[in-house]
Amino acid sequence: MAETGTDISRASQLLHAGALVAIPTETVYGLAANAFNAEAVARVFEVKKRPGFDPLIVHLADAEHLKEIAEPIPDAFYRLYEKLSPGPITYILPKHPKVPDLVTAGNATVGVRFPRHPLTRDLLLHAKLALAAPSANPFGYISPTSAQHVEDQLGDHIPYILDGGPCSVGLESTIIDLSKKEPAILRLGGMALSEIEETLGAPIQKVQVSSSKPQAPGMLSAHYAPRTPLLFGHMERHLKVAKGKKIGIISFCKRVGSAPEAQQHVLSPSGDLREAAAKLFASMRLLDQSGVELILAEKFPEEGLGKAINDRLQRAAFREE
Ligand code: TXA
Ligand code: MG
Repeated sequence: MAETGTDISRASQLLHAGALVAIPTETVYGLAANAFNAEAVARVFEVKKRPGFDPLIVHLADAEHLKEIAEPIPDAFYRLYEKLSPGPITYILPKHPKVPDLVTAGNATVGVRFPRHPLTRDLLLHAKLALAAPSANPFGYISPTSAQHVEDQLGDHIPYILDGGPCSVGLESTIIDLSKKEPAILRLGGMALSEIEETLGAPIQKVQVSSSKPQAPGMLSAHYAPRTPLLFGHMERHLKVAKGKKIGIISFCKRVGSAPEAQQHVLSPSGDLREAAAKLFASMRLLDQSGVELILAEKFPEEGLGKAINDRLQRAAFREE
């Protein structure tokens, strides 16, 4: 079991000593290491059981600390940063030579994010560290949105979980690549695409969120998946397929079908996509652990965070044949 608490000094001390600490962010919990300690970073891959060395996002308190992480920094970064950070957006920028190659998996670029969660902001300021952190889940499983989720799966492998309560956004950050001539979206996430486009004053032509040869593991088709098979969309048809089976249902604002109450997860009765996003992963986990044979999820409206919710459900539903 990991120690769980809100002691920033303790978390800072452990990180300085090269240990891993789970940190709360507004998106999902991260598994953090000092980005400039390559051995600690290597341990992150070990604990997550990632099959390869995939690049990690570097978490910073503010752009003042960006100098030794990325260079040169494009103008588009500052426009987005001023308006949208701290928040659920990750910028892919040209990497500074000082950043260990293990953090970026040998890429010439580095992912940088400024999390909004106050506890982690305090930790970053107090520890004066850049923290390399992937989501704190074993590779391929649903990302954790509470300290308990982290404890359930990684508690035996890390000394400390900084408990910041449930994540308010609940979806991983949106990733935008600013290292090329034209900005490209590599992952839909907690920051709506429309907000980014509004800030840039132009639509983004390149939205490269799924691929068989992904640049980012979040782009793999099978990802974020519960162990229980999940069927996405086509609710009428899937309800017929599921007849006689013990099913769980994830829906937006209304109950669907006639499963028992406990197996019905209506994510936002008031029809708020932000609320739905914040509850999505916890509902997937609860249903996964509830002993149902099949999870049915309806398609959410394709607007705002609904796009990212549908993206995650689509990936959760994907099964290699
Ligand atoms: O919300 C989030 O982004 C959370 C919290 C903890 O900050 N982090 C997160 O990390 O989701 P992770 O490692 O689970 O997913 C990060 C994604 C991966 O798909 C990775 O390949 C991609 O970001 N990535 C990181 N650096 C990159 C780079 N230089 N180029 C392209 N993709 C990159
Ligand atoms: Mg992840």
